[in-house]
This record gives sequence, C-alpha cells and structure tokens, in this order.
Amino acid sequence: MGTDGTAVLAVEELSAGYGKVRILHGVALEVRQGELVTIIGPNGAGKSTAFKAIVGLVRIWAGRVRFGGREITGQPPDAVLRAGLAYVPQGRIVFPQMTVLENLEMGAYLISDREQVGVALDRVYALFPILKERPRQKAGTLSGGEQQMLAIARGLMTDPKVILLDEPSLGLSPKNVGLIFDKIVEMKAAGLTMMIVEQNAARALAVADRGYVLELGRNRFQGTGPDLLRDPEVKRLYLGG
Ligand SMILES: Nc1ncnc2c1ncn2[C@@H]1O[C@H](COP(=O)(O)OP(=O)(O)O)[C@@H](O)[C@H]1O
Ligand SMILES: [Mg+2]
Repeated sequence: MGTDGTAVLAVEELSAGYGKVRILHGVALEVRQGELVTIIGPNGAGKSTAFKAIVGLVRIWAGRVRFGGREITGQPPDAVLRAGLAYVPQGRIVFPQMTVLENLEMGAYLISDREQVGVALDRVYALFPILKERPRQKAGTLSGGEQQMLAIARGLMTDPKVILLDEPSLGLSPKNVGLIFDKIVEMKAAGLTMMIVEQNAARALAVADRGYVLELGRNRFQGTGPDLLRDPEVKRLYLGG
C-alpha cells in the first residue's frame, strides 16, 4: 500500500568486510517508495555493516547499491547524504554538550540557505514536538528516548528520500521503546521511506511492510511483515518460539 513497486534503494550481491575478514557475502535488500522495511537477525549477522557499506562508511568489496535510479556504490558518506539517503547509527549518538537546536543544525550542515534550515526545523518539530519545547536544552541531559528522537530528527533535517535507522529502540526503557515505535509508525504515515534494523524483532516486523532476516552475512528469509511473523522457522529461530 502506498508503494509504486519500483525500488528506490536496491542493494545487490553486496560483499564487504573489515581488513581481510569478509562479513557480508552477497546480501540483497530492496526498499520501495513509501515502504517500511525491517531487517532482523542475530547479533553479528552484519546488519550494521550492511548499513555502513550502503552509506559509504565501510568499503564495498563487490556488489552494487542503486539509489533513486542511479548507482551510488562506494560513494563517500556526504555524497550519499546529498543524494537523499540518510543514516542514523546505532547507539543514539548526539552531541551531549550541544543544545537540541545545535544538534539539529548539525544535521543540516549540507544546507547553506538559512531559510531552508528553518523549513527543515519546522518539519522535524512537527514530528517531534518534544524537541520544539526544548531547543536550548543540552542534548546530554535528555532522556534516552528523547536522545533517540533527536538523533532521528537530525537525520531528517536534509529531507531525505530514504532514512536508515540502526537499532532505534536499543537500550531504551519499555515505555521509550513504545514511544520510538509509535514515532516510526508516524514517520511512515507522514510519507517517509525507511529501512530499520531492530533487535525487537516481533515488534519491528509487526509495523513493517516487508522484512529480511540476515544471518552470518547472508540473506536467510524475506517476506511481508505478516508472513515472516507467521513463519514457523522464523518464529522458532528469531522470535522466541
Ligand atoms: N570495525 C570493525 N572491525 C572489525 N570487525 C568488525 C567491525 N565492526 C563489526 N565487526 C564485526 O563484523 C561482524 C558483524 O557486525 P555487525 O555488522 O555490527 O553485526 P550486527 O549489526 O548484525 O550485530 C561481527 O563479527 C563484528 O564483530
Ligand atoms: Mg548492529
């Protein structure tokens, strides 16, 4: 629903690693316009490495990344962001000594036009009203959930076509996990196209249009969110029975 069937982001036969150690062995991923795609899989499966390779933070050994109809394989992070693909790393990384507003302005470093920065601020404040109430608060004094919202909001400042969220609920209290999932659903309703990596597998598949299971750097399962949630093997291996 709300998708036109063509991939806005397509990853084909992706291989990458660190030093001489290969982590990804021909991974394939696809995100269509308007979709929310979830990636799950055990710790160390290479989920974060896949995101880093896509956005140019880890060198690609083989394979292709196509985005918005052109190839961006191996492009540096700023070029990838400029093309409209944003990335929010694992660990709700904010600049703790900087204010909420300063953190958001950092996210807009590619935008030189002040007026355009104002428009971007209004757009992210509409999604995250809590941030609008505290522009001068030091980011380090926000709660875990608020810091994650700030990290996501910063990623949205460039008005990306697609945003990659790595473990947005990791390390949050149950209440804040719920809050972040609500926000993800709101972001999708606002028309954002997203791919998220999540430990909270059942919950992340429940909100997803489609999902992928990665294991040992390879595709293991893929399907619609509901299909994966029903799949007995997926249930047994990744959803705790
Ligand atoms: N910077 C790094 N240098 C060397 N090995 C790394 C580095 N980052 C991750 N790895 C290794 O790559 C594998 C995949 O890690 P990662 O992509 O973080 O997995 P996931 O996000 O699925 O938990 C793991 O074996 C991890 O130890
Ligand atoms: Mg990870």
